[in-house]
Amino acid sequence: MTLEARPDGWWKSAVVYQIYPRSFMDSNGDGIGDIPGITSRLDYLHDLGVDVLWLSPVYRSPMDDNGYDISDYEDVDPLFGSLVDLDDLIDGCHRRGMKLVMDLVVNHTSDEHPWFQESRDPASPKRDWYWWRPAREGHEAATPGAEPNNWASVFSGPAWEHDPKSGEYFLHVFSKKQPDLNWENPEVRQAVYAMMRRWVERGVDGFRMDVINLISKDPALPDGVVAEGQTYASSEKSVLNGPRLHEFLQEMNREVGLSDRHLLTVGEMPGSTVELARDVTDPARRELNMVFTFEHVGLDEQPGRGKWALAPLELPRLKRNLETWQRGLAETGWNSLYLDNHDQPRAVSRFGDDSPEHRVASAKTLATVLHLHRGTPYVYQGEELGMTNTGFTEIDDYRDIESVNYHADAISLGLEVEVVLESLSVKSRDNARTPMHWDDSEHAGFTAGKPWLPATANKDEINVAAAVADPDSVFHHFRRLIELRHREPTVVEGRFELLLPEDPQIWAFTRTHGDDVLLVLANCSSDDARVDAADIPDLTGAEVLLATHADGEDLQLAPWESRLYRLSSESRSRG
Ligand code: NOJ
Repeated sequence: MTLEARPDGWWKSAVVYQIYPRSFMDSNGDGIGDIPGITSRLDYLHDLGVDVLWLSPVYRSPMDDNGYDISDYEDVDPLFGSLVDLDDLIDGCHRRGMKLVMDLVVNHTSDEHPWFQESRDPASPKRDWYWWRPAREGHEAATPGAEPNNWASVFSGPAWEHDPKSGEYFLHVFSKKQPDLNWENPEVRQAVYAMMRRWVERGVDGFRMDVINLISKDPALPDGVVAEGQTYASSEKSVLNGPRLHEFLQEMNREVGLSDRHLLTVGEMPGSTVELARDVTDPARRELNMVFTFEHVGLDEQPGRGKWALAPLELPRLKRNLETWQRGLAETGWNSLYLDNHDQPRAVSRFGDDSPEHRVASAKTLATVLHLHRGTPYVYQGEELGMTNTGFTEIDDYRDIESVNYHADAISLGLEVEVVLESLSVKSRDNARTPMHWDDSEHAGFTAGKPWLPATANKDEINVAAAVADPDSVFHHFRRLIELRHREPTVVEGRFELLLPEDPQIWAFTRTHGDDVLLVLANCSSDDARVDAADIPDLTGAEVLLATHADGEDLQLAPWESRLYRLSSESRSRG
């Protein structure tokens, strides 16, 4: 794709669609989605109107973490197809005017990557490419408590694995098959940049960068504080947003030509703050276009107790959080907008109401609210159908390494089985990883074989074939929202202003661009709601651009009813 096809800032008016290849479409009946399967569905994605596809990893991998453990950055895993298949997919996207963004997982490799294999030898020049450390002073290696520090792995247990060959330990913030690369070593960085340049040459249009704010760590690797009832400490303080993060991102941008080639770059950044994101996404600093923050997806957990400690979500907190980011990145930088992805529960089950009565309206209203914020929206496969959580009830149903390890760990620490299963049913990553529903046939039309995870029981009502045929479906609502972004500069650029911040039901805000003012009025609750005319701009003469319900009354909103208005010039001058 030429530079003309990627004008400066093109990603601001784009909508990105995330594909989790394992669960999207299986072309060869092995029960696992693949690249030819994706290519076969490009027309569907084009009809939805999305501009960019982001592929979760399809590289060679032992699949300990479903491909986020890469053993060869330069090849496609045979499970997903071949490089030729990938070239076809890129070509198929470009021919339809769409772009393709690859996942870039360079905080860690697989332990089966040749770099790590070499690094196992203490005399190897690659020894320093990873974080190898001897046992804690005064401890004998491989005995309890002898790990070099007390950090927990994100996937339970210690963040260190003992290697009998050299008697030393290596650091793995994620699974023990995902050793962390040592970005302090300039050879590591150059090897990564060279690999990225080869993907750009191959025709990809950008990168979604996995946990990219972990690449700079506190090189002293100090002990953390162990919370009550836990064995290991969180490593967050020392591994997130380290001292050289900006330097590394600027170097990467320069060496790969990320800004010069107008590539889309989005950094996944757990623990990112508005201030950090503003710097990272300031175009003048030439780091990244946008980041995925985690603040809003942490609002339904008990503070400081991690993702499994469930707490009710309060709408005012969610609205205010997004508003803080809208304000913080209004002048400099850019937001990414998402409610779900392959690591999060389904949006409609988490933020909406997935009961048969309210599922459709709540999926539409959540989409309206999200897509009308300022930033680049991300649609996760199936979100455009209002797909729901899985409803798994047994530990044997789950495949996700984080879920399976958490279950074992929590039970060993004495938590009740029911409590653990309840947390998993709400928060497990497998909620978003069940097969895409294409139709109401067996396995939802995802595979002719036995799917690696079963399709959700509601596939007969919730599927692509039904949604495309129904003009009132969630799918067509998403399609209209995407069209609006392409058509209306106010949706892309407009200044954001939150109204009624403390209202527990209504999410209302305006977007203003020059003389044009759009107003979103959304009832984000399963009860009727009423808006006081004094609290919102005058609606006289306002035009409804998009609505979930026909014939809605101006100030009365049915459960999960939402409307997007364009205010009339008359009411603007009065407001
Ligand atoms: C974030 C990815 O989104 C997640 O799926 C993965 O497990 C971790 N990073 C480790 O790569």
